[in-house]
Amino acid sequence: MIEQLQALRTRALARLEALETSGDPGALEAWRVEFLGKKGELSSALRLMGSLSAEERPVVGQVVNEVREELESAFAQHKAQAEAQALRAREAGDAVDVTLPGRTPFLGAEHPLQKVIRRIEDIFLGLGFAIEEGPEVELDYYNFELMNFPKDHPARDMQDTFFVTEDLVLRTHTSPVQARTMEKMQPQVPVRIIAPGKTYRRDDDDATHSHAFAQVEGLVIDRGVRMSDLKGTLLTFARQLYGADQEVRLRPSFFPFTEPSAELDVRCIYCGGAGCATCKQTGWIEILGCGMVHPRVLELGGYDPHEVSGFAFGMGVERVAMLLYGVTDIRQFYLNDLRLLEQFSGLAH
Ligand code: PHE
Repeated sequence: MIEQLQALRTRALARLEALETSGDPGALEAWRVEFLGKKGELSSALRLMGSLSAEERPVVGQVVNEVREELESAFAQHKAQAEAQALRAREAGDAVDVTLPGRTPFLGAEHPLQKVIRRIEDIFLGLGFAIEEGPEVELDYYNFELMNFPKDHPARDMQDTFFVTEDLVLRTHTSPVQARTMEKMQPQVPVRIIAPGKTYRRDDDDATHSHAFAQVEGLVIDRGVRMSDLKGTLLTFARQLYGADQEVRLRPSFFPFTEPSAELDVRCIYCGGAGCATCKQTGWIEILGCGMVHPRVLELGGYDPHEVSGFAFGMGVERVAMLLYGVTDIRQFYLNDLRLLEQFSGLAH
């Protein structure tokens, strides 16, 4: 019996040795079950102890214990080795070669138009305005109908408007956000919002026209709003944007949704008013359309024009940006020419 146990030990250790190279954790566990498990070979040997004499029993028992301890410690050692090896293999796989030269990513920059929109937003947020948004694909109803465009108004003509369907257009201005805001807020006052966004018109692209451009709309409705409120707000805006001594003027104009309507000119940023090519020798440059909200528009929006009044304005972001940065061709904003964009990254120059 003692010989059997010795043989078992030799066999078990030899098998364990052979496993080492396979590196399979399942095989190691199978080995443990086969030799050390409850139904394993060592346990079977133990069961035979009953048939031994009283003198033989302690002697054999000691050998059984020795063999068990030896096998258990050999198993633990192999298991630890296998785990360490697996860890090393994983680490080798994840290794980073820190001596490789790095790749320098191109740093993006905020687009100049987005930069200007953010500046405009900051100014109006500071004046207590909230920001609203509306869809670029807009119902005729909001783009025209609620903004008091008569059915046969020339701006509805196919020449100016991209129609998606008969009732659906690419919005030609951000003014439909006025109608959407009134619909949502009526009859509450005050309304004090700006609405930045993309707008579309069937224009041929040239130095001053783009079929896609950005506007920032403004709308204020409250009790007792007057034209002087409009002018004061726009003067404050122009001075924050272009400088504390910036002069502005209102010039009569026409829009179906404002009455009276006006255009806001700023003193030419380039010549200071002396007259130059940019201001066409007038000394003034137009930056936005504005006016007192037409009573009919208030009514269509759910407000009582006898109770409240309001003003509105809409500015072309490209125009404001061109003046601010001295860009002379509107197409520059859409060419994605890195030589222009890099100037706004804060890195170049
Ligand atoms: N929606 C007008 C345009 O696109 C601008 C405007 C807005 C005028 C609000 C008056 C009031 O030209």
